[in-house]
Formats: sequence, C-alpha cells, structure tokens
Amino acid sequence: MNDYRRFSEELCKSRHAVSLTGAGISVESGIPDFRSRDGLWSRYDIAEYGYIESFRADPARVWNMLSAMGRMLEAAEPNMAHIALGELERLGIIKAVVTQNVDSLHQRAGSTNVIEFHGSFRTMHCDTCLKTFSREYISFDSLPPRCPCGGPIRPDIVFFGEAIPTQAYALALRATEECDLMLVVGTSASVAPASHLPLIAKKRGARLLEINPEKSGLSDSLSDLHIKEPAGKALGQILRVVREMKS
Ligand code: APR
Repeated sequence: MNDYRRFSEELCKSRHAVSLTGAGISVESGIPDFRSRDGLWSRYDIAEYGYIESFRADPARVWNMLSAMGRMLEAAEPNMAHIALGELERLGIIKAVVTQNVDSLHQRAGSTNVIEFHGSFRTMHCDTCLKTFSREYISFDSLPPRCPCGGPIRPDIVFFGEAIPTQAYALALRATEECDLMLVVGTSASVAPASHLPLIAKKRGARLLEINPEKSGLSDSLSDLHIKEPAGKALGQILRVVREMKS
C-alpha cells in the first residue's frame, strides 16, 4: 500500500482528526515561510523584526516588513492544501485546524473551525490604548500607522515575547486533547508552545501524520507517517483517495 492510501485510510478510520498547520502550507500560495533558505527570517533579522521589543523600539522599521507581508497576504489565494482541508472538514473527518498562520487562507478555503494560534493580520489594535481597527480602515501612507491617540497601530499577530491569545490557546489545547489523529502540515515545529501540541497529542495516544517536503522537528521522533511532498500536491492526492474510499 502506498503512503497516500495509508494516510487516507488512517484519516477515514479516525474519530476526531485535527490539523496543525504552519507557514509551509501557504508556500504554494506565494507566501514564503520563515525558516527555509529563502524564508522571511533570512531577509529580516529576527531580533530586529520578530520581537514585541523590536516593534516598540522602532515601529516604523518593523512596519516596513509588516507592510510587505500585508501586500503578499492580500495577493495570495488559497491553494489545494487549504481547499482539501476545508473539504475534509465538510466530509466530517477534520474537526479543527489549529494554524500558526495569520493569512486567513484556511477560512477563505472553506474551513470553518480554525483556531488562529498566532493571531491574525485581518485586525489590528493600537499598541498604546488597545483601540481595535479593521485592516481596511487603516491608512498606510506613513509608517507606522497611528491611532488617534498617537500610539502605533499593530496587527493582531503574536510577536515573539508575547503570550498566545487566551481563547486560541484554550481551544487548541482542547482540540489536541480530543484528537485521535493529528495531521501536521508545513511546520518546522520549532516554535513553542505550538510545537508542544503534537507532543501532547502523541502522549495521549493520537497518531501523528506529517506532510512536509523536508524533515521537521517531529519527523524522526514523533511522526507515524511522513509524506515528503509539498502540501498542495499531497493533500490533493489524499482528498482524491479519501473520496474514493468514502464512495
Ligand atoms: N508544503 C509543505 N511544507 C512546506 C512547503 C510546502 N510547499 N514548503 C516549505 N514547507 C515546510 C518547510 O520544510 C518547513 O519545515 O514548512 C515548514 C515551515 O517552517 P517555518 O518556516 O519554521 O514556519 P512555521 O513552522 O510556521 O513557524 C512557526 O515561527 O516565526 C514564527 O510566528 C512565526 O508562526 C510562525 C512560527
């Protein structure tokens, strides 16, 4: 039996499958990941751009990266991997997607139970008075965009040094504890606490299925099956086999 059949069979047999996704799932939508050779952290120094302290020290500099990121996210469309996860939810197989991505592509592809572990780029707030803004109402003519109170506006994403949003954390933990299969797609699994979720799932007896063209921090130690292909290609195939099995 080939890996696609094995993967699909396990998905069909599962009672409560949950997917954990990372930047790799959106690479085929034209959004680079963080840690691959051409990833975001190869172009922007993580210490100068990635931390909440970086933003507070120089919001204009960090906004240069954020506005480039925003333009990329606006141009991106969901790819086959996002679409297949949406369809697997519709078929009753995937119960939740826990994503580290802030690009909203899962929701746009039809997934309805999406837990945004690292926040979202759709909404923003003032770093000083916490007033909230929707992205489309913000002027980016001069950076950083400013709140009427004068404080710098920032997207509702999680910088290094910040806590995971409370509700997303609780929901992700619950989904992890409930799942009997975790489908890990396109993450290096190198950033905690998201990287703990597969460990928790595995300790509670869940099967761990991974899709990543490279090895991640999970591949050798935790993954039960690993398809070493790009997510769009792999999930497109898996959806096809699952549909055959279900018909
Ligand atoms: N399909 C599947 N996986 C892919 C693809 C693809 N087409 N292309 C790349 N990958 C894999 C890479 O091999 C890598 O293992 O996706 C993974 C991306 O890893 P990272 O760049 O570390 O991204 P991620 O795991 O999401 O990072 C976690 O780090 O900086 C932060 O907050 C940021 O949410 C992010 C967090």
